[in-house]
Amino acid sequence: MVFRHVAVKLPRQLVRHLSMAQMPLLGKHCLITGGSRGIGNAIAARVASEGANCVVLSRSLSAAREATDKLDITAGQAHVPVQFDVSKTRRMWTLDDLGGVNLSSIDVLINAAGVAQNKFLFTTPESEIENIISTNLMGTIFACRTFARPMMRRKEGGCIINISSVLAGRGARGSTVYAASKAGIEGAFTVFPMFLIVRRRSMSA
Ligand SMILES: NC(=O)c1ccc[n+]([C@@H]2O[C@H](COP(=O)([O-])OP(=O)(O)OC[C@H]3O[C@@H](n4cnc5c(N)ncnc54)[C@H](OP(=O)(O)O)[C@@H]3O)[C@@H](O)[C@H]2O)c1
Repeated sequence: MVFRHVAVKLPRQLVRHLSMAQMPLLGKHCLITGGSRGIGNAIAARVASEGANCVVLSRSLSAAREATDKLDITAGQAHVPVQFDVSKTRRMWTLDDLGGVNLSSIDVLINAAGVAQNKFLFTTPESEIENIISTNLMGTIFACRTFARPMMRRKEGGCIINISSVLAGRGARGSTVYAASKAGIEGAFTVFPMFLIVRRRSMSA
């Protein structure tokens, strides 16, 4: 049997439908804090495979670059590595903080940067307590404060995903400060989404 290749021209609407089905995030810009490894990196890989352009944040530029180099670019995506420590900036983030990334271009913010704890409260150094709260809780609050307003101003809105933990609700040995940081996220962002939803924007923790 001879197989012949027949070129079929698909209707433009069908092509658009197919690319939307396979790459629902085509053309979207996602910023992932903690995108250099772990859960944040897995999320970056997933959203890139669905067509998104990713901005990957890490405290280390080389780690962020290594992560972005591995992301899918089959749909012509452009991924940007950014060195930024979310625990150090107790104010709204600026264009300069993020290496020139246009804040109002971000469609999806994923707050995955986090540090864990595995020590009793009495033996956890103060610097570590400070770092856990600054990274997990304050970093998430300032990221939301930075990006929620530009998202609300845009006609197409935006989406913010904050990563909490089951430990927020029930804690575990050696996780007092970590559980507090995640409970803080849940406390803050049960109220904030209601405010945003009134304005037809979405947020989930
Ligand atoms: N793993 C779990 O079982 C689990 C369960 C529930 C929730 N979570 C939460 O999920 C998130 C990711 O956890 P994971 O296990 O994937 O963690 P991970 O593998 O340790 O990765 C943490 C990520 O956060 C970044 N990061 C840490 N501190 C940062 C800072 N100050 N500024 C910028 N980036 C920072 C790290 O990047 P650099 O080191 O390159 O800066 C890295 O990319 C965390 O919020 C964690 O609390 C994890």
